[in-house]
Order: sequence, then C-alpha cells, then structure tokens
Amino acid sequence: MIRFDASRSLWILETASAAFAFGLARRGSSVDGFPQSRLSGEGLLLQTWYGPRLPDASEYPEAVPEPGWASFSTPASLSPEIFPAAGGPRFGEPSLACVFPDGVRDSALRYRDYSIDGEKLSVFLDDSAYGLEVELEFIAHPAWDLFSRRAIVRNRAGGSAASSSGGSVLIESLLSGAVYLNRGGEYRLTHLVGRWAGETRIERCPLGEGRFTIDSSRGFTSHHANPFFALDAGARADEDSGDVRFGCLAWSGNWKISFERDNFGLVKISAGYQDRDFSIPLSSGQEVASPSFIFGFTRGGFGAMSRALHGWQRSALSPSGSELRRVLYNSWEATAFSVDEAGQTALAEKAASLGVELFVMDDGWFGERANDRAGLGDWTVNRKKFPRGLGPLIARVKELGMEFGLWVEPEMVNPDSDLYRAHPDWIYHYPGRTRTEMRNQFVLNLSIPAVEVFVFEAMHRLLSENDIRFVKWDLNRSISEPGSPAHGHPRDANVRHIEALYRIMSRLRSAHPDVRFQTCSGGGGRIDTGILAYFDQCWPSDNTDASDRLCIQEGFSLAYGAHLMESWVTARKNWLNGRELSLEYRFHAAMAGVLGIGENLAHWNEEEAAAAKSLIALYKDLRPLVQNGNLYRLESAASSAEAGACSASVSGIPSGRHPERTSFMYTADDASRAVLFVFLERNRFGGRMPPVYPQGLDPEARYVLVQRSPESPLFPLPSAEIAGSAGMTLSGAAWTERGVSVPLREDHTSAIFEFKRSPSN
Ligand code: GLA
Repeated sequence: MIRFDASRSLWILETASAAFAFGLARRGSSVDGFPQSRLSGEGLLLQTWYGPRLPDASEYPEAVPEPGWASFSTPASLSPEIFPAAGGPRFGEPSLACVFPDGVRDSALRYRDYSIDGEKLSVFLDDSAYGLEVELEFIAHPAWDLFSRRAIVRNRAGGSAASSSGGSVLIESLLSGAVYLNRGGEYRLTHLVGRWAGETRIERCPLGEGRFTIDSSRGFTSHHANPFFALDAGARADEDSGDVRFGCLAWSGNWKISFERDNFGLVKISAGYQDRDFSIPLSSGQEVASPSFIFGFTRGGFGAMSRALHGWQRSALSPSGSELRRVLYNSWEATAFSVDEAGQTALAEKAASLGVELFVMDDGWFGERANDRAGLGDWTVNRKKFPRGLGPLIARVKELGMEFGLWVEPEMVNPDSDLYRAHPDWIYHYPGRTRTEMRNQFVLNLSIPAVEVFVFEAMHRLLSENDIRFVKWDLNRSISEPGSPAHGHPRDANVRHIEALYRIMSRLRSAHPDVRFQTCSGGGGRIDTGILAYFDQCWPSDNTDASDRLCIQEGFSLAYGAHLMESWVTARKNWLNGRELSLEYRFHAAMAGVLGIGENLAHWNEEEAAAAKSLIALYKDLRPLVQNGNLYRLESAASSAEAGACSASVSGIPSGRHPERTSFMYTADDASRAVLFVFLERNRFGGRMPPVYPQGLDPEARYVLVQRSPESPLFPLPSAEIAGSAGMTLSGAAWTERGVSVPLREDHTSAIFEFKRSPSN
C-alpha cells in the first residue's frame, strides 16, 4: 500500500512486512555561519525509513535535514536524499549528473508534485531554470516485501534554451536513486563474484568508510560481478533469521552499485548505469529512464531474502512464470562443433528413450562453422553438415516426442563470415585502431538501427522457417573499443545496445509466443533481473563439475530462483578439472535446478542409461517442488569448499552443521511435500555425522521421510545408529528439532529425500 501523509509531507510505501518512507523537509537546519537557504536542507526529499513495517504509520519519522558540520559539510551532503543530483553543496555519489546547454553543471531539483496509482507512486521534481523534469517512480510488491524504483529524466525545455549543443542536456550519470541504512551500524556486504567457469560465488566483507563499488564495464552484466547485494548489520543475519536489506539492478549492460559510508556513519546505496565512458544527450522533448532497482527488507535472514526474490521472479518477472521447465539435452559437451544430421539424430533418439523433453543442438550448425573461427553472423544452415536443412532433424525430434531447441549468438560476428565481409562497419570499432578479437569474434553494433533490424530479421526467419521451441542465446566476449563511427562515437552506445536487445527480444517473443529462451554468456555472464524479463531460464556456468557447481548454484540461489537455473549432467570425468564423480552425484546436483543432460549418450552403458532414465523420472516427479517451491539452504556448499576457491571469505557455519556437507530443501507452498538434497563433499577422520536439520515444514503436520535416491540403502550396515531416518513419520516440529540422520559416509556421495505429509493431516 502506498499513501501520502499530507500533514507531515511523508510518502509511505508498505508491503506485507516491510516499509520504505521518504518526506519533504519542510524546515531547514541551521549551518553555523551559513544562513543561506541552499545550505539549510529545506525542500530536500529525504528517506526516513527503510525497514520493518510498523503497526502504526504515524510512527514513521518525518523528514528533518541533518545539521551541517563546521564549514565543510552541509545538510544536503549529510542528509539521506533519495535523489541527490550533482549540484549545490553535495559531494557524494550523485543519482544524476548533467551538463546544461550553456555549460552549467549545477542541478537544482525542487519537488513539484506526486501521483499515486495503486501500488505505483510518482514524485516529480523540476529544475525550472532549464526545463528539466525528473520523475521518481516507485512500485511496491506487497506479497514479496520488495519495492522497485527508477528515475525518468525529461528535457522539457522549449527551443529558447537551445545553444551550440542544440539544446541538449548531457546526462553524464544516471542512477535509479539512493537508499540508506540506519546511521551508525556496522554493516556486512554479501555479493557475488566470479570469472568464467567460476561465477556467482559468495563474497562477504565489512563495509568500511569510503566508497565500494561492484560493477561491470564490459558491455554486459559480466561473470565477474552480479548486480545483486545483501547487507546485514553486525554480521548478525544468517540463513534463518536476522535483518537483511538487499537489492538487484535490472540492467544487462554496463552497471554499477555503489556503497558509500560517510564519515558520520551513514551508508548510502546507489544503483544504475555505469558512468565510465557514458553520456546521454537529451534534446528537447526527449526522456531517458534509469534501470529499475529492486530492493527489499526481511527479518528472516538470507533464506527469506532469496525466497522473496524467487517468488517475485516467478510471479512477476519471468515471461513464462511458473510454467514447468523441460528436461533438456544439450549437444555441446558431446559433439562441440561437429554436429550433423546423423550424429544429432542418434543423440536425440537416445535422449528421448531416457525421458528427455527438449533436444537442443548447440554451436556448429550454421555458416562455415567448423570451429570458433568462422560463421557467426551467417544464420543459415550449413549444407555440408545438414544437406537437407534442419527440417528432417526437427521432424525426427518431434516424432520422438521432444521439442527442438537451437543455439545462436546473434550479437556477434566472426571476421570470417559473409556478414562481416558485407558489413565490416557493423561492429563496434574506432577507425585506425585495433579491432580486438576475442574468441575470434567482434560485437555487432546494435545501436545502429540497420543492425538491430538484421538481428531481429535473422532470428525471426529462423524461428518462422523451423519448428524451434527453445533458443539458447549466447554472448561469448566482452565489448571493447565501443566506437560507432557513423554516429560520431556516441557514449550511450552501450545503453542503446541493451535497449535494442530488449526490443528484439520483446518482438521475437510476441511473434513466437511458444518459443522459450535461455540466456547464456559463456556460462553465466548475462544473468540479471533486466534480461530475465525476456528470458525464461539461464545457463549459470560452463563449469559442469557437480562439486564446483554446488557452490556456483548456491551463489546463484541467493538472488535467482531454481526455475531459472539450468544444470546439466555431463561426463564422469569433468573436462575442466578432471574430477570424477558418480552418475548419481552428477544427477543430484543437476536436479536441484532445471535438469539437463550434456554427456555424450553414446558413452553410457545400459546400466547407466537405466539409472539415468529412472533419475529423470524422479526429477519429473519432484520438479514442481524444485522449480516452484521455497528454497531453504541448510548447509552451505561455500563452507565445504576451500576458502578462496569457492567463497573468498567463508561465512560462519551455524553450529551443528557439517562443514563439508551441502544440503538444501525445496518445500511446496502448502507444505504438503518437501524435497531434501544432501551432498557429502568429503569425510575426514570418520566420526558421526550430525543430522541435517530441515526447515519449512508445517510444525503441526506429520511427515513420512522417504529416501527417493539412491533406491538402495545408503550405508547398508545393520546398525541403528547409522541406519538413517528414512521411513520414520514425525511431526514437522519434531523433524526440525531432531533432524534427519543421513548415513552418507564416502566422499562425493549424495542422496535425495522427500517429506510427504501423512494423509491423516
Ligand atoms: C559458450 C556456452 C557453451 C557453448 C559454447 C558454444 O561457451 O556457454 O555452453 O554453447 O559457447 O560455442
């Protein structure tokens, strides 16, 4: 609910359990020796609350500017302004920085008015001298304790403001705004770091005085940092409890989230476009919007934070919502670029016999694509590999009862391609400078309208001419040398690239409503809440080692739901690190998300194929829980990996939990069923394993615990002590306190259990 308390000039946004409030400072604060009104803080829009919802709305404080400090710090530089524009006596991260046509770089925004429409609030600010309007848009998502906000900047100046720059206001920095934490706390930042093959690993660090920024200047979201964070005070939150403030930025291009702790203990969080090599000229009548920033509050620890984000993603963000994702096969690790009709048909036949529902042919099917040195840009089928086109393969896949999916990398071009030979000027570059190749490819300049049309048309044709129901959309390099000679090298090319990509996706989705899309970028390089409005699922990493993957998946799960998290079962001996893991362990790790198979199926013997078939059937039974359930992380994968390899700063492991075991649960919304995954990374020095303590069960209900996989007893010794809890029926309350005895003993063993509510409840 959103309301305006006129008596106190206070806007209050409330969700089920959280609240965010800000107000207009009606009185100024005195600044010793500086009586000018610009220094007093009067008229500033100040945050007054970001935390739990209060029972009595009259208790949310009204806006009062901070007093200045000596002759150096003013109320405007010390108060929690919700949209500090660069101008006047402000010295921190601005939410907006612009240059007016006459060269003035001093913004003076004043509150004008507001409107409330259901769960949406717009507050309008003006810099009347230059006809600049800023709309601060807030949306409350009541069920998820989330808010989203963005800023829209409009140049409303008439022709008279025109100057030599043609009347344009140059926007040099644009963020969604700022949110603040209570002054004086010791805050710990949780965020996701990584690199190719090691994405979304959890990093935790104290927020000291100064500015700390997580960002990407690579032209896309990046493997290295992810636009997500969580903050807790005094490291007091854990998985199950504690106050956590958190946020995500919905943007897939250059981005930043900065955390500033000032010398008075105020922590400010600002999120939006990365302003390195950035500027947007805004001519009269034009507008530009910042990316949306989604932020929330919970008292339920990191677990509740993730469940809120996952629920919101399923119900409001994902284009296909909670539709069950298919079990897929992907050819990449099996055949790499060596795809042809006979080979892919043989794989498809084997995949179908196992129960796979979607057959995805990866790279290698188009142009002169024998390896990664040629073909990108030429989106027509390679007739040497597929003399009859894709039709017969697709027909066979459909006949086998599966849907067909295809890999593409539409924003890229190899120099060795017909497209590049015809349009060498369609890539980002600076004439006379090196055009750096990465993976032997260049990036198409989507900010050129003809290139946007080409990419849309190429994909539209492919989807119109072939019965394709799934597209794996890849991006395998960073954007460097972002020059655009035809347009004078505009510094907003990256923003325009991403906007063009979103437009292409939205047109493709409406033209092909039955097609589902996967976002991939050499693994998990482009996963964010911006792209996820257009893509149905993600490829979190090219690292398919199930042990590493548990860490990557755990980090992923902090911010993103399991319905988005594709995970494949690949070869016993992993290509990246040579680690050998059992089929079961590999399956169990992949079954924690959207299950896929990536192994060369010709390598499986009959016994393995039979085991795979029954695990796929099991997954289909558990899939509604995994994909649409509520995640409870019980024992951290990050803590079971060596410090630095998985988590650069390992979080404390709550007592009673095993440091080398990973466990988590997904529970149904009505708590009628729950699935428990347990993985033992290593058993050192023997000893008794502590139980796994479940979460999310209905305390009153009675549940029988069923061991779903493996089918045989875990540790077949006739000792009650280690026989495990499978088969027992207890109340949810009892299970939670007594825990589940899981008799895993050997390194890299795993099991899946199901809690089934007894019919008597
Ligand atoms: C990227 C993807 C892989 C695969 C290859 C194909 O690396 O992440 O899954 O599709 O490209 O070239």
